[in-house]
Amino acid sequence: MKITKAVIPAAGLGTRFLPFTKSIPKELVPIMEKPALHLIIEEGLASGIKEFEIIINDDKPAINNYFSPNNHLETLLHAKNKDSLIAGVNNLIHNAHLNYIAQPKPLGLGHAILMAQEKVGDEYFGIFLPDEIMMDTTPALSQLIAKAQQYNCSIVAVQEVPREKVSSYGIVSIKQNLEKNLFEIDKLIEKPSINHAPSTLAIIGRYVLSPTIFASLKNTQAGSGNEIQLTDGITHMMNNGERVLAYNITTHRYDVGNPLDWLKANIAYALSQPLYATEIKHYLSDLQKK
Ligand code: UTP
Repeated sequence: MKITKAVIPAAGLGTRFLPFTKSIPKELVPIMEKPALHLIIEEGLASGIKEFEIIINDDKPAINNYFSPNNHLETLLHAKNKDSLIAGVNNLIHNAHLNYIAQPKPLGLGHAILMAQEKVGDEYFGIFLPDEIMMDTTPALSQLIAKAQQYNCSIVAVQEVPREKVSSYGIVSIKQNLEKNLFEIDKLIEKPSINHAPSTLAIIGRYVLSPTIFASLKNTQAGSGNEIQLTDGITHMMNNGERVLAYNITTHRYDVGNPLDWLKANIAYALSQPLYATEIKHYLSDLQKK
């Protein structure tokens, strides 16, 4: 199984980050000097993804602009001998094949993924939720791809979440432990109440799915929040005999789609950079003394 394509749904409203998201898509919130989506494409390239299907809406030209060459800026920077400042994003533009696909209305994550059917075709593919940043030396998606290839089936990334947060996630009911951190799934439940959650293992923002998900999504009615849920599509796919495993990724994850986690991601990222680490540590300890 070769996995070279990934879908990145980026057509949601980003209500948790209003008013910022009134004019700038949440997928472009900065993690230090790079937009979140830039880090996602880097993770994809490092995982062997060559083609990215980015689902957007008409209100988000900023995403396309960011990943397009800016000749005017390049000329100005070149004159100042500062080409290196945008070399990173230019490399990305050069190495990643990006397709933009419109989702006419934000009808849900499952509906957004369905928009990519034609481009993905009949291949297994990856999905990134671009508001979830994973910080690890081994790219998160590459860990999933390795397991999908080993077991020749679909696989969703999961992580333990606190009990009070299960109602915000798709939760996995486990049938069997196959190996360390890898589970056979019994069923998936979208946003259960604490009392009805079969576990605290939540589906997080990385998937490798069989292309049969598209037929299943076409047969999926609006569910929780009156949106077409990807979790419900995966359930439909499983009910039709498709094997789906869950892999517990231990990588540190930040939901940068909400302001508090976004701030934590920035602090963690700064602390991981030798250039900033010492100053940030001093600054944080000074703040605590006040
Ligand atoms: P979220 O539910 O986190 O995004 O979806 P949201 O709806 O934009 O955010 P809030 O809850 O209102 O703050 C996860 C990803 O799926 C995309 C979003 O852009 C986000 O990157 N998405 C969601 C779509 O592309 N289309 C949709 O209809 C819904």
